Amino acid sequence: MIVFNNVTKRYGSNVGLINASVHINSGDFVFLVGPSGAGKTTFIRLILKEIEPDSGRIILAGKDITKIKKREVPKIRQKIGMVFQDFRLLEKKTVYENVAFAMEVLHKSKREIRERVPYVLDLVGIADKAKKYPDELSAGEQQRVGIARALVNKPRVLICDEPTGNLDPVTAMDIMELLEQINVRGTTVLMVTHAKDIVDKMNKRVVAIDHGQIVRDEEGSYGFVQQKEEEEDLYIPGFTTFLDPSELRAAQEQYNRRNESRSRTVVNHGPAAYDDSLVDTYLNGGEDVYE
Ligand SMILES: Nc1ncnc2c1ncn2[C@@H]1O[C@H](COP(=O)(O)OP(=O)(O)OP(=O)(O)O)[C@@H](O)[C@H]1O
Ligand SMILES: [Mg+2]
Repeated sequence: MIVFNNVTKRYGSNVGLINASVHINSGDFVFLVGPSGAGKTTFIRLILKEIEPDSGRIILAGKDITKIKKREVPKIRQKIGMVFQDFRLLEKKTVYENVAFAMEVLHKSKREIRERVPYVLDLVGIADKAKKYPDELSAGEQQRVGIARALVNKPRVLICDEPTGNLDPVTAMDIMELLEQINVRGTTVLMVTHAKDIVDKMNKRVVAIDHGQIVRDEEGSYGFVQQKEEEEDLYIPGFTTFLDPSELRAAQEQYNRRNESRSRTVVNHGPAAYDDSLVDTYLNGGEDVYE
């Protein structure tokens, strides 16, 4: 469904993604996680063809989208439904009109719209709110409208960028249940999130990005230590995945001392970071982690 093959994207001297390879199959439910600046938005913007990679191939629904013509881009984007943290509803339109509008811009027939909109509103559980305006709805209901709008044109994949970021924990889990139901019905779901508890609870595939590299891709938990603002600069390449902040700080100091004269080029050792003995090796001054 979505394939990244050795994709690199730089913004001048900033790293977006380096040599990223990911295969997302049709019907998958995938969390995309990683610290701020890791490359998550870059990943999504590449799928939407808002930006172009420097190298590598990106396949979406069987098409190499790095090779398609400009006029084909809207057709590719129709295969994708987007859900946003801040809902992005049209305030002057009702729930029904918000969802219908997504079909009108694609010149769908009045009849199709009349049939499809009530169906998706029912699917996301807000059929009774069709005539309300966004400001008459709770945040959770507004996000349901956002999801209905994303689904109304039958996309192959739903990309959700922090969809629960503006919701309380209970409402957030309701929305997660809805996304899971949608996935069970066959839509591929790719969700960017910082919500550790949600990722841990859902027990789905987690693709972790760090400094532009895919550092982990496996079923299960969020992995990253959730760092507070003041701990943001405490970073050891590849090792944020399992150390708690105090361990991280001690390790960081050790790392800084050892690396004063050593090159800081990082190699992508990805899942090896899970091997506890490797951690010990590293903390004892193992050389294999760095070039
Ligand atoms: N338009 C741009 N110009 C220059 N640098 C950019 C641009 N967009 C992103 N970057 C850089 O690329 C890196 C990856 O950014 P990206 O937005 O993909 O991160 P992210 O994982 O989405 O972070 P966040 O969790 O904060 O949204 C960062 O270092 C960022 O500063
Ligand atoms: Mg982002």
